[in-house]
Amino acid sequence: MANTNIGLLSFFCLAGSSVCLIFVIIPFLCLWKSLAPQWVMPEKMEKQLHAVPASKTVKFRCQATGNPIPSLRWYKNGKEFKKDQRIGGFKVYHMWTLIMESVVPSDKGNYTCVVENEHGRLKHTYLLDVVERSPHRPILQAGLPANQTAVVGSDVEFVCRVFSDPQPHIQWLKHITVNGSRVGPDGHPYVLVLKTAGLNTTDKEMEVLTLKNISLDDTGEYTCLAANSIGMSYHSAWLTVVDGVRCFS
Ligand SMILES: *[C@@H]1O[C@H](CO)[C@@H](O)[C@H](O)[C@H]1NC(C)=O
Ligand SMILES: *[C@@H]1O[C@H](CO)[C@@H](O)[C@H](O)[C@H]1NC(C)=O
Ligand SMILES: *[C@@H]1O[C@H](CO)[C@@H](O)[C@H](O)[C@H]1NC(C)=O
Ligand SMILES: *[C@@H]1O[C@H](CO)[C@@H](O)[C@H](O)[C@H]1NC(C)=O
Ligand SMILES: *[C@@H]1O[C@H](CO)[C@@H](O)[C@H](O)[C@H]1NC(C)=O
Repeated sequence: MANTNIGLLSFFCLAGSSVCLIFVIIPFLCLWKSLAPQWVMPEKMEKQLHAVPASKTVKFRCQATGNPIPSLRWYKNGKEFKKDQRIGGFKVYHMWTLIMESVVPSDKGNYTCVVENEHGRLKHTYLLDVVERSPHRPILQAGLPANQTAVVGSDVEFVCRVFSDPQPHIQWLKHITVNGSRVGPDGHPYVLVLKTAGLNTTDKEMEVLTLKNISLDDTGEYTCLAANSIGMSYHSAWLTVVDGVRCFS
């Protein structure tokens, strides 16, 4: 069978062994596909703030591809994260996942991964909050819900991220004006309840308020309110609705 010349094969395999094909093709592909790092599952990295009860295990993942395969380094609060900085150290699983077991309050902070090869560099930061086991009122992620501007007729979503150890009850409210006043005689704002948890709604569904086919009347202030047995927290955001025909520049 030595040196059978079947077109390509004989071209790659001058020595007559099929093994040489591999040696020829791989360096060829590597030269051809040099690639800056890219996240493999960016959607799994969207949740940045992780509020975790003490003693739980935390995993942060920063999987990236690239050619050559990028390196990954972890930083805590801007300084390179070393195993001896933490009681119990940490593990790195399959190269891309940082695992910290039994977290304690001193683990709170910003964890940044930097992936890098000769063609580029990416970074991503996770915020870790370690909440004491003692019950607390719900924690709402800073910056959510966010102010928005949208065009008449479009659909709008407000998002609220709620962290609560006791089961939270979430509501979405719209602030309204009664007799020209936004606040009642008791000092509380006038509100309309737009969405409240029913028997079947999950917390995940309750974290999103969808307004469909909005009109100018939907302009206003919206509030996500979360309550548990200890207390309540709320965050508000403004929706500005603009006419489709109007042009801003
Ligand atoms: C972590 O990042 C947040 C937001 O970027 C910042 O406000 C905070 O001070 C940082 N915390 C530490 C400990 O570096
Ligand atoms: C959201 O809009 C309100 C009203 O326009 C403004 O007071 C507030 O500062 C805005 N918040 C942010 C985070 O931009
Ligand atoms: C609005 O004002 C009118 C007249 O002052 C009063 O009769 C009515 O009760 C007020 N409505 C509310 C909801 O306060
Ligand atoms: C809740 O979900 C169950 C099963 O999906 C359904 O049969 C039931 O009608 C739902 N109840 C309400 C109040 O939507
Ligand atoms: C959106 O709202 C407008 C006015 O309220 C209505 O005429 C139109 O049919 C609605 N469109 C859809 C797709 O529901």
